Amino acid sequence: MTKVKEIYGYVNELPKGAILNTDIYNSSGALLCPKMTVINDDVLQSLSAYKGKIQATLTYIEENTVADDAELPEEDNSVSFDDSFKKYAVESLTTLYSNIEDVEELTNGVIEIGSKVCSVINDSKELSINLSKLKVSDEYTYKHSVDVGTMAAIVAKAMGESEQFVNDIAVAGLLHDIGKEEIPLHILNKPAKLSFTEFELMKTHPVRGYRLLVDSDDISEDMRKAILNHHENIDGTGYPRQLSGNEIGKMAQIISIVDVYDALVTKRPYKEAKSPAEAIEMMFAMSNKFNLDIFRTFLSVVNIYPNGSTVKLSNGQVATVLRQNKSYPLRPVIKITSIKTIVDLSIDKNYLSTVIVA
Ligand SMILES: [Fe+2]
Repeated sequence: MTKVKEIYGYVNELPKGAILNTDIYNSSGALLCPKMTVINDDVLQSLSAYKGKIQATLTYIEENTVADDAELPEEDNSVSFDDSFKKYAVESLTTLYSNIEDVEELTNGVIEIGSKVCSVINDSKELSINLSKLKVSDEYTYKHSVDVGTMAAIVAKAMGESEQFVNDIAVAGLLHDIGKEEIPLHILNKPAKLSFTEFELMKTHPVRGYRLLVDSDDISEDMRKAILNHHENIDGTGYPRQLSGNEIGKMAQIISIVDVYDALVTKRPYKEAKSPAEAIEMMFAMSNKFNLDIFRTFLSVVNIYPNGSTVKLSNGQVATVLRQNKSYPLRPVIKITSIKTIVDLSIDKNYLSTVIVA
């Protein structure tokens, strides 16, 4: 950060370290010091003989940048839904999910929602995810469906996939858990660990979703496979078929990552919500289950500490997030509240061992 200062005074008022923007002349018009000179002890010494007034403009370049009050968090331009879209999405999904027997109406309705999700993404200033700006409903099914469809489409677009692929994955994401409509509510919302049998029943939801849509002309086989395989893991530990690596299609690999993230950061009857940072940390620990290229793209678009949010550092300091570091989502640029100092956590040597803890 730089600051510019004008001086009309005496030589000893020239601040050390500043750069002269203007030549300095004595009262007779003779050059005392040329512009671009950096004021240091030698320069001050050589000028000290002159006792008259001088006029100069100087620029400071501050190493440990001190923020002035004008330094505000950058605008959060991540994808967000307006209230009318949220209302429309929830009302449509409520109607569609209440009658899944009418597959054509279901798929047509969800394709329409998917295309609106994609147009919001296309109009967004930035291809990034801040889940608090997506929230369409408190009701889990709708919130989770829209979150997963939207995040999957954002990741696919960030990966450079075609418009068709991005549209398809939005729809597949909106429908990925449709098979859960056939699972009894008392199991879906059980506030305790599921029994073996209950869990086996729960694990049938990808197959149920696939079969529900198997005769649909509107949903491609790739999209159906994404629904069938969204709980498969790259290391072969998933379900229902324990597929591994490239046996799992790209669409399912993307949906699987955003599905895990959304499930972790959402409060459910049987578990508390993790913070975005905790969720990412847990996902790093299980990253052998994910396609790493896709996981990296996901990390580059997810906003873990949104601009303007307050964070606590491991050294006890409190700070405001000013802007993101795309390559280091856990280490944004922050302003320390108590000393009004801006710190780029991705490069500042003094903060190498400091992390955001909350
Ligand atoms: Fe699922």
